[in-house]
Amino acid sequence: MLKPEIEDGQASLADPAFRNDVLRGFGLRPRAIPARWFYDRRGSELFEKITDLPEYYPTRTETAILRACCGDVARIAGKGRAVVEFGSGSSTKTPILLEAVDPAAYVPIDISGDFLRESSAVLANAFPALSVLPVEADFMHPIALPAQVADTPKLGFFPGSTIGNMIPHSSTDLLRAMKKSLGEGAMLLIGMDRIKDQATLEAAYDDAQGVTAAFNLNLLERINRELGATIPLDAFRHRAIWNDDRARIEMHLEATRDVTFTIEGRPFDMAAGETIHTENSHKFGARDARILLRAGGWTPVGEWTDPEGRFAVILAEAQPARLAP
Ligand code: TRP
Repeated sequence: MLKPEIEDGQASLADPAFRNDVLRGFGLRPRAIPARWFYDRRGSELFEKITDLPEYYPTRTETAILRACCGDVARIAGKGRAVVEFGSGSSTKTPILLEAVDPAAYVPIDISGDFLRESSAVLANAFPALSVLPVEADFMHPIALPAQVADTPKLGFFPGSTIGNMIPHSSTDLLRAMKKSLGEGAMLLIGMDRIKDQATLEAAYDDAQGVTAAFNLNLLERINRELGATIPLDAFRHRAIWNDDRARIEMHLEATRDVTFTIEGRPFDMAAGETIHTENSHKFGARDARILLRAGGWTPVGEWTDPEGRFAVILAEAQPARLAP
């Protein structure tokens, strides 16, 4: 039998992968923790609130674009495909697409089984005639889709500019994995946030009400709670910084004074001004977006934006293997 390292009952709560990422991340320079750990229950609730903030333009902009473009998408892609959504269905965006393309089936993929079952039930209720086939999986790897849709052409759906939360090395890996999962003749409808003025971008990730700050700081609370850490929350502040060279918003947690603390009994320290990097949100010029898609094996065939060009929804088709000049 393994002896628990902490015997107050807290240690059993910790996911070993979370523990490893946190201990490793605090050892890196610059310090960094993978963004997936934001989404405990409170983190997911705060994220929902972010999407409603006045400063956070992407959700409402993309939703408006989808309302306007899904008729065109249906004409180009044809009706009766199986819609495969990467990252579980948000309650507002998915129905817009489903209504327009009249799919043969809807396959939501999510790593969180609870969330997946909840959103699948909501969708199945709203579309009683639709066959909803949820798959609990990590969409970063190629996925075996349900046998019922083996011979149905697929339409992938990847909204929210989630592609921008990966570094380009990983986003091209993901695009290739999607191509593999979706199979021959597949199409992909993807949301990608555009580069725009720095003030608008930074405000979207550092709102006046402090919801995004609370979302970022919740990661430290989670570390304290689940890993028995002693990080003083009042010694950290949320930072959202536009990195122009990398074309991305970076979220950091910055120490406002010199601090020492322990995580699972191990000592750590940070000097005032040092940060923990917690999230990237890459933004794309019109050509950048198309090059990234082509690099991942997808040819853009349709593109829609809002009147101000703040956000883009792109339809692409899987590139067949072929010789090129
Ligand atoms: N993909 C969206 C974006 O980058 C949503 C998102 C992911 C987000 N992580 C975030 C928004 C952290 C705010 C903070 O905008």
